Amino acid sequence: MEKILVTGGAGFIGSNLVDKLVQKDCEVYVVDDLSMGKRSNLPRSEHVHFFQRSIIDFDFMEKLLVREQFEYIFLMAAVASVADTVVHPYSTHRVNQDADVFLLEVIRKNNLKPKKVLFTSSAAVYGDDPQLPKGEMSRINPLSPYAIDKYATERFVINYGKLYGINTVATRFFNVYGPKQNPKSPYSGVLSIIADCLSSGSPFNVFGDGEQTRDFVYIDDVVAALMLLIRSENTNGYVYNVATGISTDLNEVISIFEKVSEKKLTVVHKDPRKGDIKYSVADVTRLSNLGYEAMVPITVGLRRYWNFL
Ligand code: NAD
Ligand code: UD1
Repeated sequence: MEKILVTGGAGFIGSNLVDKLVQKDCEVYVVDDLSMGKRSNLPRSEHVHFFQRSIIDFDFMEKLLVREQFEYIFLMAAVASVADTVVHPYSTHRVNQDADVFLLEVIRKNNLKPKKVLFTSSAAVYGDDPQLPKGEMSRINPLSPYAIDKYATERFVINYGKLYGINTVATRFFNVYGPKQNPKSPYSGVLSIIADCLSSGSPFNVFGDGEQTRDFVYIDDVVAALMLLIRSENTNGYVYNVATGISTDLNEVISIFEKVSEKKLTVVHKDPRKGDIKYSVADVTRLSNLGYEAMVPITVGLRRYWNFL
């Protein structure tokens, strides 16, 4: 059985990945402090070993890595709210960068030989550059502590790979949606907030005219991309956009979600969010060259998401 570590594995993307790994008969170790994730997101299985710890508990993390000698390591734990990192730039930097660099050091110093270390970065690294679509070679302009830490950690991960012979890869997720995304913060993914408003009947605030576009990618496509990236040797030392290559505007998404749920959303228009990016869409050529294809169009993804809820 392959032994796999998923930090942040009780969160939205992490727990969906854990579901898949368990189906594939892996032995999965999850470290999550439950600041955003939930224990109940994880499947009940003797093959899931859960540790409610912070990844900045360096002593614990070092002992775990050395003891378990993981074959695959997914570095997904992060303070994923950009707004939180603006309010707490240093404490979130410890989680979003220091903790992962420390883990790379543990691997290097102890000469551990994971088959792959995968780090999850974000489309946030592209910032507000208007050129579209965003390819991996597009201009980088990280604007928040979150984006700065994601970009810097990405570079550490990729270059630890090159300098010390560790197999590493990084992903830049665009707007991921689907079951188990936590809608509790105003900065949670917009589709989780819309789902929550549709369910509870609360009004939904549209920031701006609703004509902003995003590349919404369904969680199952993201998990499929993660599995593909760790299994391929050719991905070592590269960063990959994970998205669909298709942009959808917010008004359209609302109307699809209303049809799917057979409910009417009460929409309240507010001023655009400060620093909001108007248009975003990915170039996914690099990932497609590995044989990846996003299989879930937004209409299907929203239906699956709603049925789950
Ligand atoms: P999430 O908040 O659901 O998951 C992150 C998990 O990390 C949570 O379960 C949280 O409790 C845990 N965590 C936070 N601080 C921790 C700490 N100090 N120690 C241990 N665990 C800690 O977010 P997500 O959407 O599942 O994101 C997963 C990863 O993907 C993150 O690195 C995030 O930055 C990145 N990402 C997500 C998106 C998206 O659209 N959801 C987009 C770009 C990048
Ligand atoms: C996403 C990421 C962010 C990253 C950015 C990079 C999430 C949750 N956030 O932000 O980490 O920095 O991509 O491009 O994935 N909106 C509303 N009403 C709401 C909530 C949101 O109108 O209640 C609007 C926002 O103003 C935005 C759009 O919906 O225009 C999408 O918002 P959101 O889901 O927060 O994602 P991004 O802003 O794209």
